[in-house]
Amino acid sequence: MNAPWKVLGSGPLVGEFVVNGDKSVSHRSLLIGALCGGPVEVEGWGDSADTRATLEAVRALGVQVDDHGSGRLTVHGVGLTGLKPPVGAIDVQNAGTLMRLLSGILAMQPSGVFTLDGDASIRTRPMERVAAPLRAMGASIETTAGCPPVVVQGGQKLVGMEHVMEISSAQVKSALLLAALRADGPTTVVEETATRDHTERMLRAAGATVHTAGGRVVINPVERLQLDKIEVPGDISSAAFLIVAATIIPESRIFLRSIGIGAGRTGVLDVLERMGARVALFNRRTTDAGEPVADLEIAHAELSATSIRPEEIPSLVDELPILALAGCVAHGRTRVRGAGELRVKESDRLQSVRDALWSVGGHIEVKDDGWFIRGVPVRLRGGTVESHGDHRIAMLGAIAGLYSEQGVTIIDPDAINVSFPGFRPMIEAAIAVRRS
Ligand code: S3P
Repeated sequence: MNAPWKVLGSGPLVGEFVVNGDKSVSHRSLLIGALCGGPVEVEGWGDSADTRATLEAVRALGVQVDDHGSGRLTVHGVGLTGLKPPVGAIDVQNAGTLMRLLSGILAMQPSGVFTLDGDASIRTRPMERVAAPLRAMGASIETTAGCPPVVVQGGQKLVGMEHVMEISSAQVKSALLLAALRADGPTTVVEETATRDHTERMLRAAGATVHTAGGRVVINPVERLQLDKIEVPGDISSAAFLIVAATIIPESRIFLRSIGIGAGRTGVLDVLERMGARVALFNRRTTDAGEPVADLEIAHAELSATSIRPEEIPSLVDELPILALAGCVAHGRTRVRGAGELRVKESDRLQSVRDALWSVGGHIEVKDDGWFIRGVPVRLRGGTVESHGDHRIAMLGAIAGLYSEQGVTIIDPDAINVSFPGFRPMIEAAIAVRRS
């Protein structure tokens, strides 16, 4: 186990902060890049333990990836059906997105048996949500009592069909859209609430026909994908930690460049705006691979409580831990509903967020599918936060530390490397600049 990290209360955060490339888009740049009919140049790729797992997975499947450093990759796509089964299991480590999206891709390969496995945490995460609809399309896919290891056998004829999603999950939707690339006809995925659409945008940019309207995503089978360049935006899920920190620490004013603000990802900004945050978006543009981005300026503001509704959850699912912290230091009572999916993330986040915030002085109770938070608009007391190996809980502890009286000690802080290895050096540098 790595050494604990103590984060002391901080003065204002000021200046430009650089966040890593978006994790969801980084995974997809490798997975969809691998399916293209030639080389794909990737820029701004977010280097982290999770995305490295994807890089190693596609290499294990016979795809050459040149890593030029500083987030630049060349993915030498082998075409839709060119993946080769590796000798042993593919190790997805902690990456649920990799496990689920790759299941869809492997299901449409013309031959081969592929085993997907990972760490102790991923072995507890539900996989039937992907396996069952893929099986309905004709795929051969077995889980282990509903969890990994997962075994996928290629060589099956897949049928294009309509899937009505039982849960809101971009990972499940994406797995089905990827398998559908080689189905015998169009595939429709029906979502009650829209989830992040990075797969749709990237596939469209690569030449696939994907139509979205009225909660229905329709994709046609395709012969070939082709993408010259993928620019990965900054990760709004990582940015959210800095946005909340700058909002709650008096006199802060920070800038974040080229942050992804695609549909299905900006719920955190809507909720913070409702709470009184001051976040300005400018320089809006769209990348070659179809991702909307903007620069952000965030200034300190007093927050008031809000209600987060079930239909908002998919657009901020990964930001709920840091929004819970915002609720703890806002004026009034914040209620979060419809967030039951947090129970099956990298940790049981309904419980681990409650435990983390409770142990640093926050007033937060777990309800069936969310939290009830009694905000107290002063610095948190401080204490110790156990990350449970969950990157977002470790970063939550660090931001709580910045806004605490006595500091916060994070147990197992290296979990942060799963998504944002630059986070700790950045926070330490920001604190050091203020002290010097
Ligand atoms: C992701 C989708 C979300 C999110 C995860 C990344 C993606 O998961 O929590 O961190 O890249 O598609 P679900 O689709 O399971 O909600």
